[in-house]
Amino acid sequence: MTVERSARTALVTGASSGLGAEFAAQLAARGDDLVLVARSGDRLERLAARLRANHKVRVEVIVQDLAEQDAARRISTRLTAAGIGVDLLVNNAGFGSAGHFGEIDAESEREQLMVNVVALVGLTHALVPGMLAKGGGEIINVGSTAGFQPSPYFVTYSSGKAFVLNFSLALRAELGDRGVRVLALCPGPTETAFFDRVGKGAAIGGKTMAPAAVVRAALRGLERNRAYVVPGLGNALSAHLTPRRPRRMIAAMAKRVTRSVVAGDPRPKATLAATDG
Ligand SMILES: NC(=O)c1ccc[n+]([C@@H]2O[C@H](COP(=O)([O-])OP(=O)(O)OC[C@H]3O[C@@H](n4cnc5c(N)ncnc54)[C@H](OP(=O)(O)O)[C@@H]3O)[C@@H](O)[C@H]2O)c1
Repeated sequence: MTVERSARTALVTGASSGLGAEFAAQLAARGDDLVLVARSGDRLERLAARLRANHKVRVEVIVQDLAEQDAARRISTRLTAAGIGVDLLVNNAGFGSAGHFGEIDAESEREQLMVNVVALVGLTHALVPGMLAKGGGEIINVGSTAGFQPSPYFVTYSSGKAFVLNFSLALRAELGDRGVRVLALCPGPTETAFFDRVGKGAAIGGKTMAPAAVVRAALRGLERNRAYVVPGLGNALSAHLTPRRPRRMIAAMAKRVTRSVVAGDPRPKATLAATDG
């Protein structure tokens, strides 16, 4: 039997590629209207046209660089002007970096934090009041297994993702009894364009997963009101078996694993770019 869903609107950041495009596809397939956000307008428009044709849903495109200071405000202004309320926010856009911290381009690291952290918080701030006013809403924040422990050679990326996990858990506890569900999705290595930027050597962790399986796990987790989801048995085991204390020791242990990203490269390029796992 098909369960009828009332029309809902989901906003997905980073929808031009990888996990974001997959979120858009699975959400459209279940009947959600969509707002797609990223910088690559042509890719977003192509995806939007396909989803409108295949699923008869409304799809809006907002081309926005999330590294810009006022990105969240601009998106919020566009939504208000179009009269769009958001029921599900998927804060997915992000990228990584890996290598010797002192040799990674500082500006690129700043941009990473703007996208992975600042824009995520900003959009959540912009959309939560509307959700509370409606009596409910849902948020999926895309973290990473890299966020479960301090990860040398992925210093900025793993720290940003640790923020995403803690932010999500804290917000969930605060808003849970007011009808807003918050889920942190913490994938391990996934087959997307992510590693084009950080390098294949950054794929540390369990078996590489397909984006479709990762997104299915996230939507199932949200349905079940889970606090966080680590898709894949190997990823879940490594995320949960890693001890949390003493913190200094964990960072040293993590270094034994993550140093492979710079092995054999005593003077890595400015941006070897990043991991996951
Ligand atoms: N793939 C993995 O192994 C893995 C594992 C754990 C977590 N993750 C996380 O999953 C999320 C999605 O990544 P992915 O694996 O799907 O990689 P991806 O295929 O490279 O997609 C990244 C998305 O983020 C968007 N984005 C990047 N910089 C942006 C900016 N300045 N402004 C707006 N959008 C921006 C990109 O769009 P434009 O370039 O068009 O702007 C693209 O749509 C990220 O948060 C990543 O950290 C990935």
